[in-house]
Amino acid sequence: MPDSYEDADLASLYDTINGWGPSDEFYLDLVPAADSVLDVGCGTGLLLKTARDRGHRGRLVGLDPATGMLAQARVRDDVEWVQGDLSTVSFDHEFDLVLMTGHVFQIFTTDEQVSALLTGVHQALKPTGRLAFESLNPVPKPWRNWVPRNASTYTAPDGTDFRVTHDIVWEKDDLVHLTETYEGERWAEPQVDQATMRFASAATIDSLLADNGFEVEQRYGFWDRSPFAEDSREIITVARPRPRPAGR
Ligand SMILES: C[S@@+](CC[C@H](N)C(=O)[O-])C[C@H]1O[C@@H](n2cnc3c(N)ncnc32)[C@H](O)[C@@H]1O
Repeated sequence: MPDSYEDADLASLYDTINGWGPSDEFYLDLVPAADSVLDVGCGTGLLLKTARDRGHRGRLVGLDPATGMLAQARVRDDVEWVQGDLSTVSFDHEFDLVLMTGHVFQIFTTDEQVSALLTGVHQALKPTGRLAFESLNPVPKPWRNWVPRNASTYTAPDGTDFRVTHDIVWEKDDLVHLTETYEGERWAEPQVDQATMRFASAATIDSLLADNGFEVEQRYGFWDRSPFAEDSREIITVARPRPRPAGR
């Protein structure tokens, strides 16, 4: 069973499927104010490559554990690409901005994993820095639309068409386990990847942030910066490291 982030061929299709969108513009708007930016789970690196193209002259670092995705990122050498995650790579208060885009946050499925992640982000951020990320709001239950009848067809860079289908295998508490199936003439048989995503509530995210030394500065419900409401599609958060009490 291929891992679509590790597999070179599937990773080469990631930007075709996900493309550039309003979420990227939201994050890109935060970049000019930051001299140094770390993109955790940078994938193919489209965001940081575009930041460079649009004139950012400071330090841009993309961190990702997946060989296939990093191979796509590494077609450019004007951004630092680092293979790993925040459990294997640490930074010493070097960044003005840490980003986690494309629902990377939802890969971390337990409180312990999120705490380890946020501890690493805290260690990477300057005291004046900011963390920005999003998570899909569980209230509208978006995964209920991730069914085979909503499959999408794309044209790969080589001109061949392929189809991507999602299906839900199980739901338990705030976890959803799904399959992602790729079909088309480039494969002899369907390629099926699977993943578990956590759909934490806004209250849970806030509590995990507070427990790990962050406070929420801004909260939006969509990429146009509309305020978060109970049934918003996204939980978009800009958080800052909490000042340490004097004397500590
Ligand atoms: C859905 S993609 C998002 C990529 C990119 N941020 C975007 O917005 O398109 C999720 C990425 O998270 C990476 N990833 C998986 N586990 C991770 C971890 N523990 N820490 C950081 N990134 C991770 C995957 O390799 C993959 O590139």
